[in-house]
Amino acid sequence: MFNLLNTLVENNKKYGKEGKLAAYIPALLEANPNDLGIYIVDTRGKEYFAGDYNKKFTIQSISKVVSLILAIKDNGRENVFKKVDVEPTGMGFNSIVNLEASDTGKPYNPMINAGAIMTSSLIDGKDVEERLKKILDFLKIVTNNNDIYVNENVYLSEKETGSRNRALAYFMKSTGVLDGDVEEILDLYFKQCSIELDARDLARFGVVLANDGVLPWNGRKVIPKDVCRIVKSIMVTCGMYDASGEFAVNVGIPAKSGVGGGIIATVPRQYGIGIYGPALDEKGNSIAGLKLIKDLSDELDLSIF
Ligand code: DON
Repeated sequence: MFNLLNTLVENNKKYGKEGKLAAYIPALLEANPNDLGIYIVDTRGKEYFAGDYNKKFTIQSISKVVSLILAIKDNGRENVFKKVDVEPTGMGFNSIVNLEASDTGKPYNPMINAGAIMTSSLIDGKDVEERLKKILDFLKIVTNNNDIYVNENVYLSEKETGSRNRALAYFMKSTGVLDGDVEEILDLYFKQCSIELDARDLARFGVVLANDGVLPWNGRKVIPKDVCRIVKSIMVTCGMYDASGEFAVNVGIPAKSGVGGGIIATVPRQYGIGIYGPALDEKGNSIAGLKLIKDLSDELDLSIF
């Protein structure tokens, strides 16, 4: 496995040159666009890695998976899906027209920005700090890593340049679908996007989802099986934004990307996969990361379809 991963990283590194760092959050421009790394954990807890697997980056939209899980935990699935739909969208992850065009006024799904602002608003807690702590504590458990924190520099950069997210949130407030203090909800959203981790952390989180919510390293159940099923289904249909259909055809694994360059993927009952490659394609997905995971899926026959 190590040889295979090294070869795939070497073969696909070159694609970083064809992508661009996410410039709309200035702090993300500090990454090296040529980095590419992968980490894999199997459901027995064995770990494999290659390339820049230990570089830190911010979780960005992959945090949407966490806020969905916590929103369901705190409210039950029915109440969550009264506030956010589960339908894919052919639009970009920060689309505004999408929100206005929705019949119900609800965001289309929890994997786009509007949907994640909604699920974050549903996490119980007396203030932003308490809600953020729940997100961090959850991540510490599913990554088996206590060293998970918010990158202050990225957070401030997100907050300063987050006008589009403010527009989405205030629009949902104006139509009555989003409850609560909009600035507080946005603050939580910016902070959760700025949580720093690495490919190993993503792979471990991915294997917990693959293993129906049981931590492979100690057998403890931390996410209900039905919640894992819901989350993986939504990852397949919506996780790679408006490239989700193509990803399902070419790779065939539940996955979620973030503009920090991360991809988490979860192969049911087999593997968790974490990828880091900060140069993005025009849809906001890691350009070399997509090539790498496609090759891996072909080599190991990972498609669930
Ligand atoms: O809200 C934003 O725009 C970013 N903090 C996160 C978006 C993101 O990762 C979308 N990803 N491809």
